This record gives sequence, C-alpha cells and structure tokens, in this order.
Amino acid sequence: MAKFLQMPTQTGKIGVFDSGVGGLTVLREIMEHLPAESLLYFGDTARVPYGNRSQSELLRFVREIITWMQGQGVKMVVMACNTSSALALEIVRAEFDLPILGIILPGARAAAKAGRRIGVISTVATAQSNAYKQAILEASPTAEVWQVGCPNFVPLIEQNRIDDPYTRAVATDYLKPLMVANIDTLVYGCTHYPHLSPLMDKILPSSIRLINPAKSLVSAMAQELDVLGLRNNRVKPEIDFYVSGDPDKFAEVSGQLMGFTPKVKPVSLALLEGLAIA
Ligand code: DGL
Repeated sequence: MAKFLQMPTQTGKIGVFDSGVGGLTVLREIMEHLPAESLLYFGDTARVPYGNRSQSELLRFVREIITWMQGQGVKMVVMACNTSSALALEIVRAEFDLPILGIILPGARAAAKAGRRIGVISTVATAQSNAYKQAILEASPTAEVWQVGCPNFVPLIEQNRIDDPYTRAVATDYLKPLMVANIDTLVYGCTHYPHLSPLMDKILPSSIRLINPAKSLVSAMAQELDVLGLRNNRVKPEIDFYVSGDPDKFAEVSGQLMGFTPKVKPVSLALLEGLAIA
C-alpha cells in the first residue's frame, strides 16, 4: 500500500505536520540543527484541535496528510504532533514505504534521563493513550509519571492568547496536581506548549527541568537521515508552508509566535479527503 511515488533523494524535502501552529516549535528546532534541509510544513488548521479526536478520525487525517506529502515527493515525514504520534504512528509506519518519525519516544527517553518524578502535560487523547508513561517506564522502570490532559491550551495558543491572564489561570490549575506530586521534570507533551514557555518560566519553580521533546526528535532525524544516506548538503534549503484552513490567519499567528511571517498556501479539505485510504 502507498509505496514511494518517486525514489527519495538527498535534496528532497522533509514533510513536517501538526494540527496547527504547534509543529512550528519543532520546525524551529529542525531549522536550527539541520539548517541544510528543505522542509514542507503542513498545519491542519481546518481540523484543529486534534487532542479530542477519536483514533479512527486521527488515523484518517494522518493517512491523508502523509499521502499528500508523498505526492509532493518528500523524503521523510515528521509527526510534529504528539497526539498523532500516540494514536497513529505505529499503524501508518507499516502502511507507507517512507521513513516516518514520531515525537513521543525521543521525548520520553530525554525525560527518563533528566529526572525521576516526571510530569507530562499533553492533549487529553495523548494522556489517555498512556504513550508517554509506557515509553518513560520502558526507559526508566523506577521513574514515577503523572500525566495531565490540558484541553484548553491548544485553542488559546492558536489564538495567540499566551499573555492573557486567563491563560495563566488555566495553566496554574493544570499544573497544580504536578506541583502537589513534587515533580522534578516536566515534559511538553504537546508541540503547541513550548509556545507557552514565557508563561511557564513565570509559574514553575526553577528547580523543575523542562523537556521539549523536539530537541531529541531532531537528533533522531539526523541519525535516520545519515543511516538512509538522505542528509542534504548540496542545495540551498527552501521551506514551504501549507494549511487546510485560512492561510492569512496562520501567517499572522506564526508571525506573532515565531517572529517570522511565512508565505502560506492553502490545501483544500476536499483534496485531502479525496486521498483517504479505505
Ligand atoms: N500539537 C499537537 C500535539 O502535539 C496537537 C494538539 C491539538 O491539536 O490538540 O498533540
């Protein structure tokens, strides 16, 4: 099923996707640490948030996106989305003849190295999947893990309400059980949440180590590109941005969150839905 449409080449783009602006926190790490790579970013903004979707819905979205990316000739796909990684990664990996990387395993391993009492904040779907807990305990069987689903964060971040006092109140509430548990390490188990780091720095005691799984994901990408002989070191990199919702809104919020305003192109939902694998 869904084999390579064309052979991957070193100069091919790496496809990176998320439900919205969350994956930009991963894109930023890739741009910093793999600066020669060309990238194709897709934000599924017509269907954000992903965090309260069922597994079958998410699987459908992820299959559509990877099929579309394959048609664009990407050499690798990166799920810059914990929810997709938790609920769909293992299944779609077996379906596509293309390297597909998720964010949970690299994040869990980094957390297991960093601490013993580990809090994970994420979408409700990621928390309910127990994907982080299982992966952390596999790496460090004596660690203790607390997972908190934070459904209000993604809509607030998509509207760039990081500085809103309401967001601070919501964050304080979500973090309360983790403070009571006396965690030493906190994992951003959703790629949207590193956008909250100015707020987190104000709320959290400085003794708590913050883990952004994107950093370890980028190391895993570099390794995989080397193993496959797909590392790009020949051409000037390009970055293309696509969304399924409103391109102007995405460009505006990206500008506010990231400090650069990308040129964003639309991909219609009708086109994506037409790519669904039965
Ligand atoms: N940023 C994604 C994640 O890491 C999806 C969040 C959402 O759309 O609810 O889980």
